[in-house]
Amino acid sequence: MKILLFGKNGQVGWELQRSLQPLGEVVALDRSSQVYCGDLADLVGIRQTVRAVMPDVIVNAAAYTAVDRAESEPDLAYQINVEAAAILAQEAQRMDAWLIHYSTDYVFDGSGDSPWIESDLPSPLNVYGQTKLQGEEAIRNAGCRHVIFRTSWVYAARGNNFARTMLRLAQERNQLTVIDDQIGAPTGADLLADVTAHAISKALKQPEVAGLYHLVADGEVSWYGYAHFVLTFAREHGWATKTQSEAILPVPSRAFATAAKRPLNSRLNTEKFRCIFRLNIPHWQIGVARMLTEVLEK
Ligand SMILES: NC(=O)c1ccc[n+]([C@@H]2O[C@H](COP(=O)([O-])OP(=O)(O)OC[C@H]3O[C@@H](n4cnc5c(N)ncnc54)[C@H](OP(=O)(O)O)[C@@H]3O)[C@@H](O)[C@H]2O)c1
Repeated sequence: MKILLFGKNGQVGWELQRSLQPLGEVVALDRSSQVYCGDLADLVGIRQTVRAVMPDVIVNAAAYTAVDRAESEPDLAYQINVEAAAILAQEAQRMDAWLIHYSTDYVFDGSGDSPWIESDLPSPLNVYGQTKLQGEEAIRNAGCRHVIFRTSWVYAARGNNFARTMLRLAQERNQLTVIDDQIGAPTGADLLADVTAHAISKALKQPEVAGLYHLVADGEVSWYGYAHFVLTFAREHGWATKTQSEAILPVPSRAFATAAKRPLNSRLNTEKFRCIFRLNIPHWQIGVARMLTEVLEK
């Protein structure tokens, strides 16, 4: 089996480079790849890449993910998150390949406090969410066999993420203010990548599993609760921090002015995924603790 991976150096893409290997030959590309074009802004180039590689499965982990910057670069966000996704889907349809793609809880407006299900009506609050939703629609319209995973609050041991930012700030400052009215589930790039490999194996045997799935770690927390967990874990593992637990202050979203509005309710219901794929989803604290152990040991 041949797998074509776009976005190999992103959080999820990096983990996919590992998790996809046992399934077959992996052609992994990023924006600066030379032999094949991996730049999603080059629509002709990526079409040529798919035709040259002739994969059985295309995995698209690349995306325009700069949520705030997307407000001032809507055309580029549209090109990468919608037009490029559409081309990958058209090419997958043309050669009867699978397309695995990732989307976001930001397709929803964050109202209420129930976990969103796949059939809930999307209503994005920002350009990033709008383009990710249009990307999903473009894939469905192309008619290819596909799996789309909507996820949230992705972290990885590699690169920058919320937990690492909190660790850094806690060494510099006596006090931290953290948003406590946005609720979601921190989800590991490693979990997403491992599940993707399982999903590909299953989809090849049971094509009827094609479709849209919500996929996040179990449980829920606010950014404030997440920060609290990270710093408590760090201290328990011998890290000295200037910020003590009682000096992490919860604040509402309006305390931070950002270009893009963010949803308050980022909860995603994963029942459909668990039922169809028959996989267990671990609690977010298990994955975050593991990631922190790796980060703190460095
Ligand atoms: N991060 C989250 O919290 C989150 C939440 C929900 C859903 N998702 C979705 O999950 C998927 C994976 O996200 P992630 O967290 O792994 O994001 P990430 O770490 O930001 O990775 C995205 C990758 O896309 C690449 N990329 C951007 N523009 C490109 C272009 N023109 N051509 C080729 N590659 C390009 C980036 O490369 P450069 O580094 O060179 O820019 C980066 O390697 C995405 O579909 C994202 O929308 C993420």
